[in-house]
Amino acid sequence: MSLQVGTEIPVGLFNKRLAILAMQGAGKTYTAGVFEEEMLDYMLETNNNNAKLLIIDPVGAHWGIREKFPIHIVGGDHGDIEIDYQSGRLFARLVSDGNLSMLFDLSKIDQEESLIFTTDFLNELFKITNSPTHIILEEADMFAPQRNISKQHKFSNAAVDSIVRRGRGRGLGMTMITQRPAVLNKNVLSQVDASIIHNINGRNDLKVIEEYLEQSGKDPKEIKELISKIMGFQKGQGLLFSPGWLKRIEVINIRKRFTYHAGAEPELGKADPARHVKLIELTLGPIIPFLNGEIPYNQEVEEGTHIRKNGWMKEEEVPEITEYHFGNKKKTLRSLGVLTIGILFLWSIITILS
Ligand SMILES: Nc1ncnc2c1ncn2[C@@H]1O[C@H](COP(=O)(O)OP(=O)(O)O)[C@@H](O)[C@H]1O
Ligand SMILES: [Mg+2]
Repeated sequence: MSLQVGTEIPVGLFNKRLAILAMQGAGKTYTAGVFEEEMLDYMLETNNNNAKLLIIDPVGAHWGIREKFPIHIVGGDHGDIEIDYQSGRLFARLVSDGNLSMLFDLSKIDQEESLIFTTDFLNELFKITNSPTHIILEEADMFAPQRNISKQHKFSNAAVDSIVRRGRGRGLGMTMITQRPAVLNKNVLSQVDASIIHNINGRNDLKVIEEYLEQSGKDPKEIKELISKIMGFQKGQGLLFSPGWLKRIEVINIRKRFTYHAGAEPELGKADPARHVKLIELTLGPIIPFLNGEIPYNQEVEEGTHIRKNGWMKEEEVPEITEYHFGNKKKTLRSLGVLTIGILFLWSIITILS
């Protein structure tokens, strides 16, 4: 059995690492939605209740999946309950214990809170998961940036890195979505088993994509051809790049969604199409303990400690992420060249002046 996303992808995807890369409006969220439909459909059809799909959505663009699939939503405009940014660890336990697929919509909380929630959630999942679990991380560069813009990013980067690098054995896989491949942590990007690259035109991002494609060992001419295809892609068209896992590098067409795509931008003068969307009614059964406060998730955060008092990481314990560049050798040579020219230039100025 395989997932029919417009092309066939093996169900083994659950514990694999995937990246969806493209500029804004090129179809990333739409494609992720198609994968979500296929994964949830597979779980329903096979009555596979040890697998789960967890969606982390900081932009509020994934709730349309509930139009056809019984997945609880926490937070956002369509949440069954509101989200509390300190509840990450406990939600990780809840979904693990109950084998629940769930969507966490972070669009109504601020960025720092989103980082805390996600870091806690991923760290706890990493510790306790032992069944096929796929996490979709929308705006992955916000959680795993190439440079840690704040202290919180150091923690979230480490959390994503653990899942991507060491999650597979525990059943954990992740799809990272980003519109800025250049600012996504190259450490995590270099680990992915398959990518879908839609239309990209930005220079820096194309450069990173080029370096990324070079990993396949293809010759520069073929890489240039792939890049020019990427620059000309229409919506729904993408390059499936999986030289290792799937042994496929080819242009694919993502199929149409059958649930509502909430990511579309509102159009001026047009009624919001979302108002006609009917979501599946669900009871709150498994999340009732949270509502009743039976599970106390508002624990205090200790100064200088990332998460809770009860034995979570202290700041100094968080592993440093070493910088990683594709084509390191080339970069080193280039910097050496620039350095030599600089020294020669200085030397000639000194000679002229003296
Ligand atoms: N496979 C597809 N088939 C049809 N339309 C698509 C497809 N992918 C994207 N689109 C259209 O493109 C728009 C932008 O896609 P979206 O996924 O929201 O972009 P992104 O997340 O990359 O910013 C969508 O609203 C949808 O109308
Ligand atoms: Mg999007």
